[in-house]
Formats: sequence, C-alpha cells, structure tokens
Amino acid sequence: MESIEILKMTLEDYEVIKDNLISDFDDFWNASVLKSELLGEHKKYLVAKQNGEIVGFAGMLQNPPEMEIMNIVIKKQERKKGIGAFLLNKMLEIAENNKIETIFLEVHEKNVAAKKLYEKAGFCEIGMRKNYYGIGENAILMSKKGNNLQK
Ligand SMILES: CC(C)(COP(=O)(O)OP(=O)(O)OC[C@H]1O[C@@H](n2cnc3c(N)ncnc32)[C@H](O)[C@@H]1OP(=O)(O)O)[C@@H](O)C(=O)NCCC(=O)NCCS
Repeated sequence: MESIEILKMTLEDYEVIKDNLISDFDDFWNASVLKSELLGEHKKYLVAKQNGEIVGFAGMLQNPPEMEIMNIVIKKQERKKGIGAFLLNKMLEIAENNKIETIFLEVHEKNVAAKKLYEKAGFCEIGMRKNYYGIGENAILMSKKGNNLQK
C-alpha cells in the first residue's frame, strides 16, 4: 500500500467526489445524504488520500462513551489493498483518544467484505435488525468494547 494520509473531510473534499460518488465509490449513498452527514452535529468524517487523490472516506457519530461507525467506503478500483482496514484503525485510534468504550455499527447481512473487515478488527455480531435496509434487507449489528480498541 502506497502511503495514505488520513485527514478530516472538508466541504472541498465533498465537492471533489460528489459527482462521482455512486460511480466511483458506492451505490448505496447519494451525494445529498453524504453532505447532510458531513454537516451533522457530532458527526466526524475522514478521507483517505493517496498522492492527493481521495481513495476512501469514513464517518462516525460520537456520543461518548459510545460511538457509531456510519460508513467506510473505498474507491472501487482501490479496494483490497488495505485502505479500508487502515481507515478503520484510524477511527479506532480516534475513539480511544476520546474515551469511547463501545463502538456500534450496522452492516448489510450480505456484505461479506465489510463483515470480514470488521470481524478482523475485533468486532462481534450482537444482533440483527430485520428489514433495516428495506423489506427482506436485514442488518447485522456489530460492536467492539473496551479501552484498548485498536487491539
Ligand atoms: C468494505 C470495504 C470498505 C473494504 O475496504 P478495503 O479497502 O477493500 O478492505 P481491506 O483491503 O482493508 O481489507 C481488510 C480485510 O477486509 C476483508 N475484505 C475486504 N474485502 C473483501 C472481500 N471482497 N471479500 C472478503 N473479505 C474482504 C478481508 O478480511 C481483508 O483482510 P485480508 O486482506 O487480510 O484478507 C470496501 O469493500 C467497500 O468500500 N465496500 C463498499 C462500501 C461498504 O459496503 N462499506 C461498508 C458499509 S458498513
């Protein structure tokens, strides 16, 4: 993995990716949802940049002692290179520095890549939210607890 910088996501970053969000990143989120997330209270969004280019982003909602991971999205042609794990680890570091004790997230039950990413980082399944993404589209609820979240 070439060197990756993790920075706070700015409105300028949003302007750069908004028109290519669905084609280049993920077909689940549209630009207006991302913008309202970025401006949301207690939300923190990060971008991963490689040679100045945005290759991924992630968001979290901090509500100490809890935190929720809203999303992690890596540019389609940059996946499976370790960037998602790197961004997730940065969020765990931020959580640790902010005295977060429990992190929650929801992931689509069929999203094998994301489930594996989170399991590898020590997240455990704690429940299911039926029809969370629409009829028959269930979410798995995962969490990670402790004061040593990066482990
Ligand atoms: C999920 C996602 C963020 C993973 O990012 P990534 O940069 O490709 O992941 P990494 O290269 O850091 O992989 C870390 C681990 O995740 C798992 N993983 C990643 N992609 C995988 C895949 N396609 N299939 C199975 N496991 C996968 C592996 O365990 C991997 O570790 P390994 O390489 O040692 O096997 C990326 O696929 C993505 O952007 N998906 C679309 C958006 C999304 O679904 N986000 C999650 C919403 S909750």
